[in-house]
Amino acid sequence: MSDVTNRDQFGSRIGFILASAGSAVGLGNIWRFPFVAGENGGAAFVFIYLLLVFCIGMPVMLAEFVVGRRGQGDPVGSLRRVAGKAFMPLGAMGIIASIIILSFYAVVGGWTIKYTLDAVIGSLGTDVASAGAMFGAFVKNPFAVIGYQALFMLGTYMVVARGIGNGIEKFCTIFMPVLFLLLIVLAVRSVTLPGAAEGLAFYLKPDFSKVNGSMVLAALGQAFFSLSIGIGVMLTYGSYLNKAEPIVSPAFQICFLDSFVAFIAGLVIFPAVFAFGFEPGAGPGLTFVTLPAVFSKMPGGSIFAIAFFFLLVIASLTSSMSLLEVISAYFVDERRWSRKKATLVVASFTFLLGVPSAISLGGGLNLFGKSFLDAMDFIASNVIMPLGGMGFALLAGWLLHTMAREEFSDAHGVPSIIYPAWRVICCVVAPIAIGWIFISGLKW
Ligand code: PFF
Repeated sequence: MSDVTNRDQFGSRIGFILASAGSAVGLGNIWRFPFVAGENGGAAFVFIYLLLVFCIGMPVMLAEFVVGRRGQGDPVGSLRRVAGKAFMPLGAMGIIASIIILSFYAVVGGWTIKYTLDAVIGSLGTDVASAGAMFGAFVKNPFAVIGYQALFMLGTYMVVARGIGNGIEKFCTIFMPVLFLLLIVLAVRSVTLPGAAEGLAFYLKPDFSKVNGSMVLAALGQAFFSLSIGIGVMLTYGSYLNKAEPIVSPAFQICFLDSFVAFIAGLVIFPAVFAFGFEPGAGPGLTFVTLPAVFSKMPGGSIFAIAFFFLLVIASLTSSMSLLEVISAYFVDERRWSRKKATLVVASFTFLLGVPSAISLGGGLNLFGKSFLDAMDFIASNVIMPLGGMGFALLAGWLLHTMAREEFSDAHGVPSIIYPAWRVICCVVAPIAIGWIFISGLKW
Protein backbone atom coordinates (compact mmCIF):
# COMPACT_ATOMS: atom_id res chain seq x y z
CA MET A 1 0.00 0.00 0.00
CA SER A 2 1.24 3.47 -0.77
CA ASP A 3 2.43 5.98 1.74
CA VAL A 4 -0.45 8.38 2.09
CA THR A 5 1.05 10.66 4.68
CA ASN A 6 3.20 12.80 2.39
CA ARG A 7 0.88 13.32 -0.51
CA ASP A 8 0.95 16.59 -2.36
CA GLN A 9 -2.13 18.78 -1.74
CA PHE A 10 -3.96 21.74 -3.12
CA GLY A 11 -2.90 24.79 -1.12
CA SER A 12 -6.35 26.37 -0.99
CA ARG A 13 -9.98 25.71 -1.70
CA ILE A 14 -10.03 28.23 -4.52
CA GLY A 15 -6.96 26.54 -6.04
CA PHE A 16 -8.83 23.23 -5.96
CA ILE A 17 -11.94 24.77 -7.52
CA LEU A 18 -9.97 26.48 -10.27
CA ALA A 19 -7.95 23.34 -11.03
CA SER A 20 -11.10 21.19 -11.17
CA ALA A 21 -12.90 23.80 -13.23
CA GLY A 22 -9.76 23.89 -15.38
CA SER A 23 -10.12 20.18 -15.96
CA ALA A 24 -13.80 20.56 -16.76
CA VAL A 25 -13.52 23.65 -18.96
CA GLY A 26 -11.80 22.66 -22.16
CA LEU A 27 -12.21 21.94 -25.82
CA GLY A 28 -15.45 20.23 -24.83
CA ASN A 29 -16.95 23.58 -23.82
CA ILE A 30 -15.59 25.90 -26.44
CA TRP A 31 -15.10 23.70 -29.48
CA ARG A 32 -17.64 20.88 -28.97
CA PHE A 33 -20.56 22.29 -27.00
CA PRO A 34 -21.57 25.10 -29.40
CA PHE A 35 -21.74 22.91 -32.48
CA VAL A 36 -23.39 19.97 -30.73
CA ALA A 37 -25.99 22.39 -29.33
CA GLY A 38 -26.38 24.01 -32.75
CA GLU A 39 -26.98 20.64 -34.40
CA ASN A 40 -29.35 19.31 -31.73
CA GLY A 41 -32.08 21.87 -31.39
CA GLY A 42 -30.40 24.87 -29.75
CA ALA A 43 -32.07 25.87 -26.50
CA ALA A 44 -33.86 22.52 -26.19
CA PHE A 45 -30.45 20.89 -26.05
CA VAL A 46 -29.08 23.53 -23.65
CA PHE A 47 -32.03 22.94 -21.34
CA ILE A 48 -31.65 19.15 -21.26
CA TYR A 49 -27.92 19.55 -20.94
CA LEU A 50 -28.20 21.76 -17.85
CA LEU A 51 -30.70 19.38 -16.31
CA LEU A 52 -28.30 16.48 -16.80
CA VAL A 53 -25.31 18.47 -15.47
CA PHE A 54 -26.97 19.37 -12.18
CA CYS A 55 -29.21 16.34 -11.62
CA ILE A 56 -26.82 13.60 -12.72
CA GLY A 57 -23.39 15.08 -13.34
CA MET A 58 -23.01 16.85 -10.02
CA PRO A 59 -24.08 13.81 -7.91
CA VAL A 60 -21.59 11.65 -9.81
CA MET A 61 -18.88 14.26 -9.25
CA LEU A 62 -19.69 14.19 -5.52
CA ALA A 63 -19.48 10.40 -5.54
CA GLU A 64 -15.98 10.67 -7.02
CA PHE A 65 -14.93 13.29 -4.47
CA VAL A 66 -16.08 11.01 -1.62
CA VAL A 67 -14.08 8.05 -2.92
CA GLY A 68 -10.99 10.19 -3.58
CA ARG A 69 -11.01 11.99 -0.27
CA ARG A 70 -11.51 8.78 1.68
CA GLY A 71 -9.23 6.67 -0.47
CA GLN A 72 -6.39 9.24 -0.57
CA GLY A 73 -4.97 7.98 -3.82
CA ASP A 74 -5.33 7.28 -7.52
CA PRO A 75 -8.60 5.67 -8.71
CA VAL A 76 -7.41 2.06 -8.42
CA GLY A 77 -5.86 2.41 -4.97
CA SER A 78 -8.65 4.59 -3.60
CA LEU A 79 -11.33 2.13 -4.71
CA ARG A 80 -9.42 -0.75 -3.19
CA ARG A 81 -9.13 1.06 0.12
CA VAL A 82 -12.71 2.30 0.40
CA ALA A 83 -14.64 -0.49 -1.32
CA GLY A 84 -12.39 -3.52 -1.68
CA LYS A 85 -10.49 -5.29 -4.45
CA ALA A 86 -13.62 -6.10 -6.44
CA PHE A 87 -13.95 -2.43 -7.37
CA MET A 88 -10.44 -1.95 -8.69
CA PRO A 89 -11.52 -2.58 -12.32
CA LEU A 90 -13.73 0.53 -12.15
CA GLY A 91 -10.59 2.54 -11.43
CA ALA A 92 -8.57 0.72 -14.08
CA MET A 93 -11.29 1.43 -16.66
CA GLY A 94 -11.02 5.12 -15.78
CA ILE A 95 -7.27 5.12 -16.22
CA ILE A 96 -7.58 3.42 -19.60
CA ALA A 97 -10.20 5.98 -20.68
CA SER A 98 -7.92 8.80 -19.51
CA ILE A 99 -5.12 7.42 -21.66
CA ILE A 100 -7.44 7.23 -24.69
CA ILE A 101 -8.79 10.75 -24.18
CA LEU A 102 -5.40 12.31 -23.55
CA SER A 103 -4.06 10.65 -26.71
CA PHE A 104 -6.48 12.46 -29.03
CA TYR A 105 -6.99 15.52 -26.85
CA ALA A 106 -3.32 16.43 -27.29
CA VAL A 107 -3.79 16.28 -31.06
CA VAL A 108 -6.57 18.88 -31.03
CA GLY A 109 -4.67 20.81 -28.35
CA GLY A 110 -1.80 20.97 -30.84
CA TRP A 111 -4.12 22.50 -33.44
CA THR A 112 -4.98 25.28 -30.98
CA ILE A 113 -1.28 26.15 -30.58
CA LYS A 114 -0.84 26.23 -34.36
CA TYR A 115 -3.89 28.50 -34.74
CA THR A 116 -2.72 30.85 -32.00
CA LEU A 117 0.65 31.25 -33.72
CA ASP A 118 -1.06 31.76 -37.08
CA ALA A 119 -3.30 34.40 -35.51
CA VAL A 120 -0.25 36.18 -34.10
CA ILE A 121 1.54 36.30 -37.47
CA GLY A 122 -1.72 37.11 -39.24
CA SER A 123 -1.85 34.08 -41.49
CA LEU A 124 -5.28 32.64 -40.68
CA GLY A 125 -7.60 32.08 -43.68
CA THR A 126 -9.68 35.05 -44.75
CA ASP A 127 -12.77 33.24 -46.03
CA VAL A 128 -14.29 29.82 -45.51
CA ALA A 129 -12.73 28.45 -48.69
CA SER A 130 -9.19 29.55 -47.87
CA ALA A 131 -9.55 28.69 -44.15
CA GLY A 132 -10.93 25.27 -45.13
CA ALA A 133 -8.08 24.69 -47.56
CA MET A 134 -5.53 25.70 -44.93
CA PHE A 135 -7.07 23.42 -42.32
CA GLY A 136 -7.19 20.56 -44.86
CA ALA A 137 -3.55 21.08 -45.81
CA PHE A 138 -2.52 21.28 -42.15
CA VAL A 139 -4.17 18.03 -41.04
CA LYS A 140 -2.71 16.27 -44.09
CA ASN A 141 0.81 17.26 -43.06
CA PRO A 142 1.88 14.63 -40.53
CA PHE A 143 5.04 16.49 -39.49
CA ALA A 144 3.14 19.63 -38.62
CA VAL A 145 0.29 17.88 -36.82
CA ILE A 146 2.58 15.57 -34.85
CA GLY A 147 4.98 18.42 -34.11
CA TYR A 148 2.25 20.55 -32.55
CA GLN A 149 0.85 17.52 -30.73
CA ALA A 150 4.33 16.96 -29.25
CA LEU A 151 4.58 20.61 -28.23
CA PHE A 152 1.22 20.45 -26.51
CA MET A 153 2.15 17.26 -24.67
CA LEU A 154 5.44 18.82 -23.61
CA GLY A 155 3.59 21.81 -22.12
CA THR A 156 1.24 19.49 -20.25
CA TYR A 157 4.14 17.43 -18.97
CA MET A 158 6.11 20.45 -17.79
CA VAL A 159 3.30 21.60 -15.52
CA VAL A 160 2.23 18.19 -14.17
CA ALA A 161 5.82 17.17 -13.43
CA ARG A 162 6.00 20.07 -10.95
CA GLY A 163 3.23 18.57 -8.84
CA ILE A 164 -0.18 19.60 -7.60
CA GLY A 165 0.45 22.78 -5.59
CA ASN A 166 3.46 24.08 -7.54
CA GLY A 167 2.36 22.93 -10.96
CA ILE A 168 -1.32 22.39 -11.67
CA GLU A 169 -2.72 24.68 -8.98
CA LYS A 170 -0.35 27.53 -9.74
CA PHE A 171 -1.00 27.36 -13.48
CA CYS A 172 -4.78 27.23 -13.06
CA THR A 173 -4.86 30.01 -10.48
CA ILE A 174 -3.10 32.33 -12.90
CA PHE A 175 -4.66 31.29 -16.20
CA MET A 176 -8.26 30.36 -15.40
CA PRO A 177 -9.13 33.98 -14.49
CA VAL A 178 -7.43 35.05 -17.75
CA LEU A 179 -9.64 32.58 -19.59
CA PHE A 180 -12.84 33.91 -17.98
CA LEU A 181 -11.85 37.47 -18.78
CA LEU A 182 -11.03 36.75 -22.44
CA LEU A 183 -14.28 34.87 -22.85
CA ILE A 184 -16.37 37.73 -21.51
CA VAL A 185 -14.57 40.25 -23.74
CA LEU A 186 -15.18 38.04 -26.77
CA ALA A 187 -18.86 37.52 -25.90
CA VAL A 188 -19.43 41.26 -25.55
CA ARG A 189 -17.74 41.81 -28.94
CA SER A 190 -19.84 39.11 -30.57
CA VAL A 191 -23.30 39.97 -29.27
CA THR A 192 -22.84 43.67 -30.06
CA LEU A 193 -22.09 43.05 -33.74
CA PRO A 194 -24.80 44.31 -36.09
CA GLY A 195 -26.87 41.28 -37.11
CA ALA A 196 -26.05 39.28 -33.98
CA ALA A 197 -29.71 38.73 -33.09
CA GLU A 198 -30.23 36.06 -35.71
CA GLY A 199 -27.37 34.04 -34.26
CA LEU A 200 -28.81 34.39 -30.79
CA ALA A 201 -32.15 33.12 -32.05
CA PHE A 202 -30.52 30.12 -33.75
CA TYR A 203 -28.57 29.26 -30.61
CA LEU A 204 -31.32 29.87 -28.10
CA LYS A 205 -34.62 29.16 -29.85
CA PRO A 206 -35.76 25.77 -28.60
CA ASP A 207 -36.70 23.13 -31.15
CA PHE A 208 -38.25 20.36 -29.04
CA SER A 209 -38.91 18.25 -32.12
CA LYS A 210 -35.21 17.37 -32.00
CA VAL A 211 -35.53 15.74 -28.56
CA ASN A 212 -35.03 11.99 -28.97
CA GLY A 213 -32.87 9.21 -27.54
CA SER A 214 -29.74 10.01 -29.47
CA MET A 215 -30.01 13.71 -28.73
CA VAL A 216 -30.31 13.00 -25.00
CA LEU A 217 -27.33 10.64 -25.22
CA ALA A 218 -25.42 13.40 -26.99
CA ALA A 219 -26.30 15.71 -24.09
CA LEU A 220 -25.31 13.11 -21.50
CA GLY A 221 -22.05 12.24 -23.27
CA GLN A 222 -21.33 15.95 -23.56
CA ALA A 223 -22.12 16.52 -19.86
CA PHE A 224 -19.85 13.69 -18.72
CA PHE A 225 -17.05 14.71 -21.06
CA SER A 226 -17.37 18.35 -20.14
CA LEU A 227 -17.43 17.75 -16.38
CA SER A 228 -14.51 15.28 -16.62
CA ILE A 229 -16.49 12.70 -14.66
CA GLY A 230 -16.89 8.93 -14.78
CA ILE A 231 -13.21 8.09 -15.16
CA GLY A 232 -11.64 9.07 -11.86
CA VAL A 233 -10.24 12.51 -12.71
CA MET A 234 -12.37 14.25 -10.10
CA LEU A 235 -11.69 11.37 -7.72
CA THR A 236 -7.96 12.03 -8.03
CA TYR A 237 -8.30 15.80 -7.62
CA GLY A 238 -10.57 15.20 -4.62
CA SER A 239 -7.85 13.05 -3.07
CA TYR A 240 -5.58 16.11 -2.99
CA LEU A 241 -8.14 18.28 -1.18
CA ASN A 242 -7.54 18.91 2.49
CA LYS A 243 -9.99 16.98 4.67
CA ALA A 244 -11.11 20.15 6.43
CA GLU A 245 -12.51 21.58 3.19
CA PRO A 246 -16.13 21.06 2.13
CA ILE A 247 -16.96 19.19 -1.07
CA VAL A 248 -20.61 20.01 -1.80
CA SER A 249 -20.27 23.72 -2.51
CA PRO A 250 -17.12 23.28 -4.65
CA ALA A 251 -18.92 20.62 -6.73
CA PHE A 252 -21.73 23.07 -7.37
CA GLN A 253 -19.29 25.86 -8.22
CA ILE A 254 -17.34 23.64 -10.63
CA CYS A 255 -20.54 22.55 -12.42
CA PHE A 256 -21.69 26.14 -12.56
CA LEU A 257 -18.40 27.47 -13.98
CA ASP A 258 -18.28 24.68 -16.54
CA SER A 259 -21.85 25.27 -17.78
CA PHE A 260 -21.31 29.02 -17.75
CA VAL A 261 -18.24 28.76 -20.01
CA ALA A 262 -19.99 26.37 -22.41
CA PHE A 263 -23.02 28.63 -22.60
CA ILE A 264 -20.95 31.78 -23.13
CA ALA A 265 -18.85 30.05 -25.79
CA GLY A 266 -22.05 29.68 -27.80
CA LEU A 267 -22.70 33.38 -27.31
CA VAL A 268 -19.25 34.12 -28.69
CA ILE A 269 -19.61 31.90 -31.72
CA PHE A 270 -23.15 32.02 -33.11
CA PRO A 271 -23.86 35.76 -33.15
CA ALA A 272 -20.55 36.35 -34.96
CA VAL A 273 -21.14 33.51 -37.42
CA PHE A 274 -24.57 34.88 -38.33
CA ALA A 275 -23.51 38.52 -38.36
CA PHE A 276 -21.15 37.79 -41.23
CA GLY A 277 -23.44 35.39 -43.05
CA PHE A 278 -21.61 32.11 -42.40
CA GLU A 279 -23.02 28.62 -42.12
CA PRO A 280 -23.77 27.73 -38.45
CA GLY A 281 -24.15 23.97 -38.91
CA ALA A 282 -20.51 23.51 -39.84
CA GLY A 283 -19.97 20.89 -37.12
CA PRO A 284 -16.46 20.27 -35.85
CA GLY A 285 -15.04 22.60 -38.51
CA LEU A 286 -16.83 25.55 -36.92
CA THR A 287 -13.87 26.54 -34.78
CA PHE A 288 -11.03 25.87 -37.16
CA VAL A 289 -12.62 26.82 -40.48
CA THR A 290 -15.57 29.15 -39.96
CA LEU A 291 -14.16 31.23 -37.12
CA PRO A 292 -10.94 32.35 -38.84
CA ALA A 293 -13.12 33.66 -41.67
CA VAL A 294 -15.43 35.35 -39.16
CA PHE A 295 -12.48 37.05 -37.43
CA SER A 296 -11.10 38.34 -40.70
CA LYS A 297 -14.38 40.20 -41.34
CA MET A 298 -14.67 41.63 -37.82
CA PRO A 299 -13.35 45.07 -36.92
CA GLY A 300 -10.28 44.43 -34.74
CA GLY A 301 -10.66 40.76 -35.65
CA SER A 302 -6.97 39.91 -35.57
CA ILE A 303 -6.75 40.79 -31.88
CA PHE A 304 -9.92 38.85 -31.11
CA ALA A 305 -8.59 35.88 -33.08
CA ILE A 306 -5.43 35.82 -30.98
CA ALA A 307 -7.52 36.11 -27.80
CA PHE A 308 -9.86 33.32 -28.88
CA PHE A 309 -7.22 30.77 -29.86
CA PHE A 310 -5.06 31.59 -26.85
CA LEU A 311 -8.11 30.96 -24.68
CA LEU A 312 -8.50 27.57 -26.36
CA VAL A 313 -4.86 26.73 -25.61
CA ILE A 314 -5.33 27.54 -21.91
CA ALA A 315 -8.61 25.65 -21.72
CA SER A 316 -7.18 22.55 -23.33
CA LEU A 317 -3.92 22.59 -21.36
CA THR A 318 -5.69 22.73 -17.99
CA SER A 319 -7.83 19.75 -19.06
CA SER A 320 -5.00 17.66 -20.44
CA MET A 321 -3.08 18.25 -17.20
CA SER A 322 -5.83 16.56 -15.23
CA LEU A 323 -5.74 13.54 -17.55
CA LEU A 324 -1.97 13.21 -17.30
CA GLU A 325 -2.29 13.61 -13.53
CA VAL A 326 -4.74 10.70 -13.08
CA ILE A 327 -2.70 8.29 -15.12
CA SER A 328 0.57 9.33 -13.46
CA ALA A 329 -1.03 9.20 -9.99
CA TYR A 330 -1.62 5.49 -10.56
CA PHE A 331 2.08 4.87 -11.16
CA VAL A 332 3.12 7.12 -8.27
CA ASP A 333 0.64 5.76 -5.71
CA GLU A 334 0.44 2.13 -6.74
CA ARG A 335 3.80 1.44 -8.37
CA ARG A 336 5.87 3.80 -6.26
CA TRP A 337 7.41 5.60 -9.27
CA SER A 338 8.69 9.12 -8.75
CA ARG A 339 6.41 11.86 -10.12
CA LYS A 340 9.08 12.90 -12.65
CA LYS A 341 9.43 9.39 -14.02
CA ALA A 342 5.69 8.70 -14.06
CA THR A 343 4.78 11.89 -15.88
CA LEU A 344 7.58 11.51 -18.41
CA VAL A 345 6.79 7.87 -19.23
CA VAL A 346 3.03 8.44 -19.38
CA ALA A 347 3.32 11.59 -21.50
CA SER A 348 5.66 9.86 -23.96
CA PHE A 349 3.53 6.73 -24.23
CA THR A 350 0.29 8.67 -24.66
CA PHE A 351 1.92 10.88 -27.25
CA LEU A 352 2.81 7.78 -29.32
CA LEU A 353 -0.68 6.40 -28.89
CA GLY A 354 -2.04 9.69 -30.24
CA VAL A 355 -0.08 9.50 -33.48
CA PRO A 356 -2.75 7.40 -35.31
CA SER A 357 -5.35 10.00 -34.26
CA ALA A 358 -3.07 12.81 -35.38
CA ILE A 359 -2.72 11.44 -38.88
CA SER A 360 -6.23 10.00 -39.17
CA LEU A 361 -7.95 13.16 -40.38
CA GLY A 362 -5.50 13.74 -43.19
CA GLY A 363 -4.70 10.19 -44.19
CA GLY A 364 -8.04 8.46 -43.92
CA LEU A 365 -6.98 6.16 -41.08
CA ASN A 366 -10.39 4.75 -40.20
CA LEU A 367 -11.86 2.41 -37.63
CA PHE A 368 -15.17 0.91 -38.75
CA GLY A 369 -16.07 3.98 -40.78
CA LYS A 370 -15.04 6.65 -38.29
CA SER A 371 -11.72 8.48 -38.33
CA PHE A 372 -9.41 7.03 -35.69
CA LEU A 373 -9.73 10.25 -33.67
CA ASP A 374 -13.55 10.19 -33.76
CA ALA A 375 -13.54 6.50 -32.87
CA MET A 376 -11.36 7.12 -29.80
CA ASP A 377 -13.60 10.01 -28.79
CA PHE A 378 -16.72 7.89 -29.19
CA ILE A 379 -15.42 4.93 -27.18
CA ALA A 380 -14.19 7.10 -24.32
CA SER A 381 -16.96 9.72 -24.17
CA ASN A 382 -20.07 7.82 -25.17
CA VAL A 383 -19.25 4.39 -23.78
CA ILE A 384 -16.69 4.39 -20.96
CA MET A 385 -17.60 7.71 -19.31
CA PRO A 386 -21.34 6.98 -18.89
CA LEU A 387 -20.65 3.42 -17.72
CA GLY A 388 -17.97 4.62 -15.31
CA GLY A 389 -20.33 7.30 -14.04
CA MET A 390 -22.98 4.66 -13.43
CA GLY A 391 -20.42 2.56 -11.56
CA PHE A 392 -19.41 5.43 -9.27
CA ALA A 393 -23.04 6.39 -8.62
CA LEU A 394 -24.09 2.83 -7.70
CA LEU A 395 -21.05 2.24 -5.55
CA ALA A 396 -21.31 5.49 -3.61
CA GLY A 397 -25.09 5.41 -3.25
CA TRP A 398 -25.43 1.80 -2.14
CA LEU A 399 -22.17 1.01 -0.37
CA LEU A 400 -20.46 4.21 0.67
CA HIS A 401 -23.39 6.32 1.80
CA THR A 402 -22.31 6.58 5.42
CA MET A 403 -18.94 7.86 4.29
CA ALA A 404 -20.66 10.27 1.94
CA ARG A 405 -22.88 11.63 4.68
CA GLU A 406 -19.79 12.40 6.77
CA GLU A 407 -17.94 13.94 3.85
CA PHE A 408 -20.89 16.15 2.91
CA SER A 409 -21.18 17.82 6.27
CA ASP A 410 -19.32 21.09 6.50
CA ALA A 411 -18.97 23.83 9.04
CA HIS A 412 -21.32 26.16 7.20
CA GLY A 413 -24.03 23.54 7.04
CA VAL A 414 -25.20 21.83 3.87
CA PRO A 415 -28.98 22.05 3.28
CA SER A 416 -30.50 18.92 4.75
CA ILE A 417 -32.16 17.93 1.48
CA ILE A 418 -28.79 17.45 -0.26
CA TYR A 419 -27.80 14.12 1.22
CA PRO A 420 -31.11 12.24 0.70
CA ALA A 421 -31.52 13.75 -2.77
CA TRP A 422 -27.98 12.75 -3.68
CA ARG A 423 -28.57 9.24 -2.41
CA VAL A 424 -31.78 8.70 -4.36
CA ILE A 425 -30.09 9.99 -7.49
CA CYS A 426 -27.04 7.77 -7.06
CA CYS A 427 -28.95 4.62 -6.08
CA VAL A 428 -31.77 4.82 -8.59
CA VAL A 429 -32.18 7.85 -10.81
CA ALA A 430 -28.70 8.16 -12.30
CA PRO A 431 -28.19 4.43 -13.04
CA ILE A 432 -31.62 4.13 -14.67
CA ALA A 433 -31.25 7.36 -16.62
CA ILE A 434 -27.74 6.54 -17.77
CA GLY A 435 -28.72 2.97 -18.65
CA TRP A 436 -31.82 4.03 -20.54
CA ILE A 437 -30.13 6.83 -22.44
CA PHE A 438 -27.20 4.58 -23.17
CA ILE A 439 -29.29 1.75 -24.61
CA SER A 440 -31.68 3.93 -26.57
CA GLY A 441 -29.16 6.34 -27.97
CA LEU A 442 -25.98 4.38 -28.56
CA LYS A 443 -25.26 4.43 -32.28
CA TRP A 444 -21.78 4.13 -33.70
N1 PFF B 1 -13.61 18.25 -19.66
C1 PFF B 1 -12.69 18.47 -20.73
C2 PFF B 1 -13.36 19.29 -21.80
O1 PFF B 1 -14.53 19.64 -21.68
O2 PFF B 1 -12.70 19.60 -22.80
C3 PFF B 1 -12.16 17.20 -21.32
C4 PFF B 1 -11.83 16.15 -20.35
C5 PFF B 1 -10.86 16.36 -19.41
C6 PFF B 1 -12.52 14.98 -20.36
C7 PFF B 1 -10.59 15.40 -18.47
C8 PFF B 1 -12.27 14.01 -19.45
C9 PFF B 1 -11.32 14.24 -18.51
F1 PFF B 1 -11.10 13.31 -17.65
